[in-house]
Amino acid sequence: MNKNTEKNTAPNIDEVLHSALKELNATKTLESLDEWRVRYLGRKGIVVQLKRSISDLPSAERPEFGHAINSASALLEEKLLGQRTKISTNNSPNHTESIDVTLPGIPINNGSLHPITQTIRDICEAFSSMGFEIIEGPEVELDHYNFQMLNIPKHHPARDGFNTLWIDQEDDSGERPMLLRTHTSPMQIRTMEKQDPPVRLVVPGKVYRYEATDSSHEWHFSQIEGLAVDKGITFANLKGTLYEFARILFGEDVKVRFRCDYFPFVEPGAEMAIDWNSRTKDTDKNIDEENWIEILGAGMVHPKVLKAVGYDTDKYTGFAFGIGVERIAMLKNGIDDIRLFYNNDIRFLGQF
Ligand code: PHE
Repeated sequence: MNKNTEKNTAPNIDEVLHSALKELNATKTLESLDEWRVRYLGRKGIVVQLKRSISDLPSAERPEFGHAINSASALLEEKLLGQRTKISTNNSPNHTESIDVTLPGIPINNGSLHPITQTIRDICEAFSSMGFEIIEGPEVELDHYNFQMLNIPKHHPARDGFNTLWIDQEDDSGERPMLLRTHTSPMQIRTMEKQDPPVRLVVPGKVYRYEATDSSHEWHFSQIEGLAVDKGITFANLKGTLYEFARILFGEDVKVRFRCDYFPFVEPGAEMAIDWNSRTKDTDKNIDEENWIEILGAGMVHPKVLKAVGYDTDKYTGFAFGIGVERIAMLKNGIDDIRLFYNNDIRFLGQF
């Protein structure tokens, strides 16, 4: 056979196309489909070989052959895509008729809010419904805001009550000006410095004290500070607001008690306790005796504090309070050890 005769024979494209499509229809898996693709449309595949054979043809036949091979190639590409979709849907689990939709599914473990976060939200919502704004402040605080501006100067004995964690950095005079805030009260000052009355805010946040831990003490815990300053605010407003808060949180029947307490930044100062047994009249109906539990410190903002931020004490008065969040979360959920909140034990946290 000489080269000339060879040159005159154009390969039969229709035949190739016919068998290619037949084989394509027979593929049932993505693997066999891929083998087919390599065989026909791959870099060394049949289509490429046919295209190369153009040069063997007499020039008159080349355009027609080239055209035919191009449309054959396009058709195979298109059918390949169709077959791939067909195989994928056939093999997808939804397609299997025999699926039993009544079988139990794979359980998804939903997360939930930490009980302290939940309690903070409940308390903030109660005050927000009474028109209080919610703000936050820094946990690393200056002595200036944590103590001095709150009428607790250096060497004041009240400092002993706050076992302070100091930041180990001294200023030029050898003093340590920074600390982890021991209460949320510094935000009273930071806010009043920036804004004129009326002020009505609550400040949820973390506080720190250098204390040994036991079932009712943690070295870090949460407080919610409250502050209201305006013309004509009285102790009656303080009592009314905190009583309403107790009713929202613990129920309509709750009894509250105010007693004198001392905090340098308020005058007069008070503590509020609730009678735990009064709150659920129906379930605890046999319990007559009272069970007073202190939940917050409060008082009328000391005139020295108002003056220090430049407020006119002839015009303005105010009240402030600080709520212990863990104490309330423990009461509401019947938890007897504060350390449980921060052990990160999923068996405990999963119950909320
Ligand atoms: N900051 C006080 C504490 O941590 C609580 C408090 C706040 C008392 C506001 C009175 C007014 O003990």
